[in-house]
Amino acid sequence: MDKKMNIAIDGPAGAGKSTVAKLVAEQLEFLYIDTGAMYRTLTLAALREEISLEDEDVLTELLSRTTIHLEHEKKGVRVFLNSEDVTEEIRTNHITANVSQVSSHEGVRIEMVERQRKLAEKGQAVLDGRDIGTYVLPDAKVKVFLTASVEERARRRYEEQVEKGMSVNLEKLKQEIAHRDQLDSTRTFAPLRKADDAVEIDSTTLTIPDVAKAIIELAKERAK
Ligand code: CDP
Ligand code: CDP
Repeated sequence: MDKKMNIAIDGPAGAGKSTVAKLVAEQLEFLYIDTGAMYRTLTLAALREEISLEDEDVLTELLSRTTIHLEHEKKGVRVFLNSEDVTEEIRTNHITANVSQVSSHEGVRIEMVERQRKLAEKGQAVLDGRDIGTYVLPDAKVKVFLTASVEERARRRYEEQVEKGMSVNLEKLKQEIAHRDQLDSTRTFAPLRKADDAVEIDSTTLTIPDVAKAIIELAKERAK
């Protein structure tokens, strides 16, 4: 496979980006970079310090003194905030409900994007997020915009949370997902949007291996 190739996977919440990105990276022996985990980790740090999530300068200053590290192991990726393992904590509803506010600030995004580009500079990386194909890696050889109906995305999150033993309300989950999509798509700086040259895959009725297979085929095609 092309040594410089990077794969960008963008799309709304619950479309299957991280699950599919992990599988594609594993099969191609690429590095998986979960950019959403980076915004989630900063959100956790800000909530702990009780910083106003509307204050761009303070958040940018907080990020400048925050180390976010993604460690790759067999079972997946572990996420560290200043060397503390926060892998589980960044997935809680409290973080999910606040992350789009934090990620909307230009100053925060500029610094995050610089870190993400550095992680991907050697090539052979799969990045998933909202602005990878449009802004972080506009020259990525493979760009995928992964979607699914909001009903299906809410159902997937519901199943996930029920499996973890959490009590959940499907209608509320659907509203939260739609609200987060709306915030991510309408922010002024690098919003969630399909890149003109991205291939759109609607995963509503597709299985995870099917989506991964389609992306791997695309990568092989582009590598020729
Ligand atoms: O997994 P899920 O789709 O729920 O979210 P995520 O990928 O962990 O991303 C969490 C949030 O981070 C998103 O709702 C965006 O607000 C933000 N994000 C972003 O703005 N840009 C990215 N490249 C990745 C995530
Ligand atoms: O990263 P993103 O928010 O786009 O979604 P995800 O966390 O990868 O996937 C959300 C849930 O949907 C996970 O539990 C996946 O196993 C599931 N999923 C699925 O059932 N079918 C797919 N084609 C893709 C994901």
